[in-house]
Amino acid sequence: MKKNIAIIGATGAVGQELLAILEQRQFPIQSLKLLASKRSAGKEITFKNQTITIEELSHDSFEGVDIVFSAAGGSISAEYVPSAVKAGAVVIDNTSHYRMDPSVPLIVPEVNPEAVKGHQGIIANPNCTTIIMSLPLFPLAKAFGLKRAAVCTYQAASGAGVTAMDELRDESIAIAQGNSFERTVIPHQYAFNLFPHNAPYNDGSADAEKVNAPIGYCEEEWKMVAETRKIFNDPNIKIAPTCVRVPILRAHSEAINMQFDKKTSIEEIYKILETAPGVQILEEPNNNRWPMPIDVNGKDPVYVGRVREDQSQENTFDIWVVGDQIRKGAALNAIQIAELLI
Ligand SMILES: NC(=O)c1ccc[n+]([C@@H]2O[C@H](COP(=O)([O-])OP(=O)(O)OC[C@H]3O[C@@H](n4cnc5c(N)ncnc54)[C@H](OP(=O)(O)O)[C@@H]3O)[C@@H](O)[C@H]2O)c1
Repeated sequence: MKKNIAIIGATGAVGQELLAILEQRQFPIQSLKLLASKRSAGKEITFKNQTITIEELSHDSFEGVDIVFSAAGGSISAEYVPSAVKAGAVVIDNTSHYRMDPSVPLIVPEVNPEAVKGHQGIIANPNCTTIIMSLPLFPLAKAFGLKRAAVCTYQAASGAGVTAMDELRDESIAIAQGNSFERTVIPHQYAFNLFPHNAPYNDGSADAEKVNAPIGYCEEEWKMVAETRKIFNDPNIKIAPTCVRVPILRAHSEAINMQFDKKTSIEEIYKILETAPGVQILEEPNNNRWPMPIDVNGKDPVYVGRVREDQSQENTFDIWVVGDQIRKGAALNAIQIAELLI
């Protein structure tokens, strides 16, 4: 049956990708409402050869809507999602606001699709780095038992939205031409540089009490721990994350080091990854070619390569993982959840 859909944040990085994927997957749409801030209200967007005018988000935006994709930020979800649920819609929330709420399922369809049954009007889409890690990690953890995983991320500008992408482009040109550049979104020089993730950081001070991370971690890192525990339904899972922003426009990369309970081999790991849903192996060792952000832009799977045995510790293996985080890390995952619903 066709559904009445609304997108909150339709002009943003995730909103635009939601539109592209709804069209590509021929999602059964009866009507489509595009919502954004006052700044974008009145602008037009083309969807399936139809022109749709963007409306300003309000508490009355949801009458007759079946499914809402919310992708405008945590505070917007906090304010408007209850109105959508009250109007009878099911909300798939891309922000972090509801992810750790025990009454809200947090879903990666390849990992815990059954969790959709327990929803009470809101379903949360996990953090992009968590989704990308979970696709190869979950089947490996299931097969061999995960003692511990250490993950380092290499995160693209698009993770911080359209403005951050524009800023990285403009700053790269300015610096290459020897000009100065004034940043508004990203806190440090981003072009030709990298820096530990700038999400709220717990420095142990009284001001940091509201930061959802232990001392020494930033929230982006702690999301990878807390969300993975919820998605895998394993409160004891051990993940040690370090998140870094790199001057890439789109697609996050992750180096994951995993120690397993059971003895296994490189061959057995490849065997699991070859059939893991949503995972694709991409490598040409003879050409020294492994998954790279430019290869995976706009692609659905999470790409994996460079499986190798850690020589420093028994039963420990490394993998290199790259995924388009606006797609599988956000919009595609949300639409797969909507497909589970219908
Ligand atoms: N980018 C990613 O890779 C990614 C991945 C996973 C999750 N997320 C999450 O998804 C959400 C959106 O991220 P994004 O990267 O798409 O951000 P973005 O590119 O900055 O887009 C933000 C969107 O929110 C709208 N918006 C801002 N203020 C609003 C308001 N007061 N009322 C209504 N709409 C408003 C903007 O509309 P205007 O055009 O009118 O300003 C725009 O459509 C965030 O919570 C983010 O953490 C992002």
